Amino acid sequence: MKRAGTKIVMVTAYDHPSAQVAEEAGVEIVLVGDSAAMTVLGYDSTVPVGMDEMLMLAAAVRRGLKTPLLVGDMPFGSYEQSNEQAVANAQRFVKEAGCDAVKLERGGASVDRSRAIIRAGIPVMGHVGLTPQTATALGGYKAQGKTAGRASQIAEEALALQAAGCFAIVFEAVPAAVTEALMPKMEVPVIGIGAGAGADGQVLVFHDLLGIFGGHAAKFVKRYADIRGEMVEGVSAYADEVRSGAFPGNDHIYSIDPAELAEFRAWLAQESLAGGTFSHADWDWGP
Ligand code: KIV
Repeated sequence: MKRAGTKIVMVTAYDHPSAQVAEEAGVEIVLVGDSAAMTVLGYDSTVPVGMDEMLMLAAAVRRGLKTPLLVGDMPFGSYEQSNEQAVANAQRFVKEAGCDAVKLERGGASVDRSRAIIRAGIPVMGHVGLTPQTATALGGYKAQGKTAGRASQIAEEALALQAAGCFAIVFEAVPAAVTEALMPKMEVPVIGIGAGAGADGQVLVFHDLLGIFGGHAAKFVKRYADIRGEMVEGVSAYADEVRSGAFPGNDHIYSIDPAELAEFRAWLAQESLAGGTFSHADWDWGP
């Protein structure tokens, strides 16, 4: 697609229904992003999410997906210690969740980790620019590469990840002009998020683009729907109808043959059906 100049569409997904939506919409790549920490798990950053949580989400996405490439995002703390740790956790994404590839953040030691994972037979997607797992070290959630020095650092990381064998690289929150300047040197697809239109493809977080996530949205997010608003409207309308007695109406109840009902009523009316008062003292609490 890069060679043909066809834009690559990537989106995140975190569960079975969002995977089915991505499949039906015909995207090329689905990322089970560690953004799940904030979008679906309620953490206030991506840092706390762990391998087991990511694997559970990725496995649910796998079950909803046939065609797109499925990438599992390696969470903070799952690959930094050693190549062995990185390979073992990448293998869990493939073996336990059925992912086709993994993504890890940053250059530096992550270049070595990426090389090790690739040598173990698992494709790796790199991620440079704003890397949320280490946002504190970058001065917060802000655009990166706004000076010549920082732009060169990002370029060096991207080229090192490319040389290590990464099949694609995410550029996050990088000035569009920096991406454009770097593109002629990129032989693997660059997937941008807040990196301008010059990238080979784009990725957005599912909950951001559909307006499901209520929190602050980055400058690069474009909302294509207001699903959260629709969900609140739907649940409020349901609550109103339950309270007013309008729900359930005739369309949402089951019927019974009148003769069967009459027989049931007669059975209920029997004198011998005294019932009695339930008491917890009647329970057999066991030995
Ligand atoms: O976790 C995530 O969703 C990501 C994308 C924003 C690239 O890393």
